[in-house]
Amino acid sequence: MIVLLVSCLAALLCPSVHSQDSSEKWCYHKPTCNFTTWSQTAPQSCSGSGQSPINIVTGSVQGNPNLTSFNFTGFDDNSTFMSINNSGESVVVSLGEGKMTVQGGDLPGVYNTKQFHLHWGNGSLSPGSEHTVDGKQYPMELHIVNIHSKYNGSLPAALAANDSTALAALSFLIEGTNEQNKTKSWDILTSFLSRIPYSGNATSDIMNQITMDSLLEGVNRTKYYRYQGSITTPNCNEVVIWTVFKDPIKVSQDLINRFSNTTFFKSSPLVLMTNNFRGVQPLNGRVVTSQLSSASLSAATSTISTITVLLLSSLCWL
Ligand SMILES: *[C@@H]1O[C@H](CO)[C@@H](O)[C@H](O)[C@H]1NC(C)=O
Ligand SMILES: *[C@@H]1O[C@H](CO)[C@@H](O)[C@H](O)[C@H]1NC(C)=O
Ligand SMILES: *[C@@H]1O[C@H](CO)[C@@H](O)[C@H](O)[C@H]1NC(C)=O
Ligand SMILES: *[C@@H]1O[C@H](CO)[C@@H](O)[C@H](O)[C@H]1NC(C)=O
Ligand SMILES: *[C@@H]1O[C@H](CO)[C@@H](O)[C@H](O)[C@H]1NC(C)=O
Ligand SMILES: *[C@@H]1O[C@H](CO)[C@@H](O)[C@H](O)[C@H]1NC(C)=O
Ligand SMILES: *[C@@H]1O[C@H](CO)[C@@H](O)[C@H](O)[C@H]1NC(C)=O
Ligand SMILES: *[C@@H]1O[C@H](CO)[C@@H](O)[C@H](O)[C@H]1NC(C)=O
Ligand SMILES: *[C@@H]1O[C@H](CO)[C@@H](O)[C@H](O)[C@H]1NC(C)=O
Ligand SMILES: *[C@@H]1O[C@H](CO)[C@@H](O)[C@H](O)[C@H]1NC(C)=O
Ligand SMILES: *[C@@H]1O[C@H](CO)[C@@H](O)[C@H](O)[C@H]1NC(C)=O
Ligand SMILES: *[C@@H]1O[C@H](CO)[C@@H](O)[C@H](O)[C@H]1NC(C)=O
Ligand SMILES: [Zn+2]
Repeated sequence: MIVLLVSCLAALLCPSVHSQDSSEKWCYHKPTCNFTTWSQTAPQSCSGSGQSPINIVTGSVQGNPNLTSFNFTGFDDNSTFMSINNSGESVVVSLGEGKMTVQGGDLPGVYNTKQFHLHWGNGSLSPGSEHTVDGKQYPMELHIVNIHSKYNGSLPAALAANDSTALAALSFLIEGTNEQNKTKSWDILTSFLSRIPYSGNATSDIMNQITMDSLLEGVNRTKYYRYQGSITTPNCNEVVIWTVFKDPIKVSQDLINRFSNTTFFKSSPLVLMTNNFRGVQPLNGRVVTSQLSSASLSAATSTISTITVLLLSSLCWL
């Protein structure tokens, strides 16, 4: 009785302690736990110097001839999507164990594709991608999470290893379009959102209907940015090789709007899931690389010649 009374009193006097259940350790939508607070609430890594997402400054991107094309396995297979789940902070599609892999593209080995999820803003009103390009934020961003095959598909094992190449994330920026028919597979995908309004809701009815390739239509996957970074949610582990594709996926604006209108955060009271992205983080000297296009190659060559001329002329002055 006394214990009960004391804990009731404690609950009354210290509501903050009790409201901080595990679900509220971090969030996107409250001042007490949004991403501006993560470096205090998860200081191990979220305050690190190699964080994601970043703003990609195209003028500072360096050429890297090692960034060859990828080999995608199972991306054309419509039996890989196992379930679609409201995780409380995003919408996550789980991919069948061992069904999809990514290799090539200068990745150090074969990676098993585990899941994909999305980040978004608030319909057409405000954009919600995590990465930005020259300061431009896109309406949405799709992340495909891949785990190095040496971890045998285990995310906990990959996170525990302190291995900067444990994960390979593939990022696709999403842009709105008025061409409503172009994205049949996105129509199917988003039709499941109304089935998973609340955190923990999931359905496997999504099986055998969509391929990964069909969601990525229109993106030339030989053109991408590469940098070393982190997971974009706590604990923000710096274990991710990031690939951000240059071409955006074009998705009808109506379908984009469904995301911010249908699912709810894990929170009480219920709040529509919107703006579930982390803001950009400092580069801290990291370099973003990409394929050298022939145009930037000749620009680089002419820069080198200019420097050579300047060097030669300064030599003459000596
Ligand atoms: C996050 O919370 C801070 C206060 O902790 C507030 O100033 C800021 O507006 C919030 N930002 C977002 C994007 O919610
Ligand atoms: C390309 O790969 C080679 C061999 O692994 C390596 O020595 C070189 O530093 C790489 N180049 C870049 C720009 O990363
Ligand atoms: C859905 O996501 C929650 C939170 O991440 C997780 O606990 C649960 O196992 C997931 N359910 C399915 C069916 O994937
Ligand atoms: C990609 O696949 C092609 C054809 O199957 C193969 O020749 C090539 O070696 C593979 N490349 C990598 C990096 O796995
Ligand atoms: C999102 O937009 C709707 C209007 O469409 C607005 O009512 C709502 O407050 C916005 N949500 C946020 C978090 O800004
Ligand atoms: C969500 O739907 C409501 C009505 O259906 C609409 O008024 C609102 O603008 C929509 N919000 C977004 C962000 O699309
Ligand atoms: C890898 O995982 C599978 C299933 O998850 C399991 O059957 C197998 O024993 C694991 N192999 C290793 C080497 O851990
Ligand atoms: C993780 O690895 C980095 C360098 O790879 C090293 O500096 C650091 O001490 C390691 N951290 C732990 C906890 O092992
Ligand atoms: C859109 O698709 C429907 C059915 O798939 C078709 O009947 C219609 O003609 C298409 N409209 C356009 C503009 O392509
Ligand atoms: C969705 O989640 C809510 C809240 O946890 C629960 O009451 C409901 O039964 C779930 N619905 C389904 C279809 O799983
Ligand atoms: C899924 O793939 C199988 C085998 O390729 C095919 O027979 C089936 O028609 C496909 N289903 C859909 C909905 O595209
Ligand atoms: C993709 O881009 C590369 C490099 O610019 C180009 O050679 C190739 O033809 C493009 N592929 C497609 C399908 O457009
Ligand atoms: Zn993500």
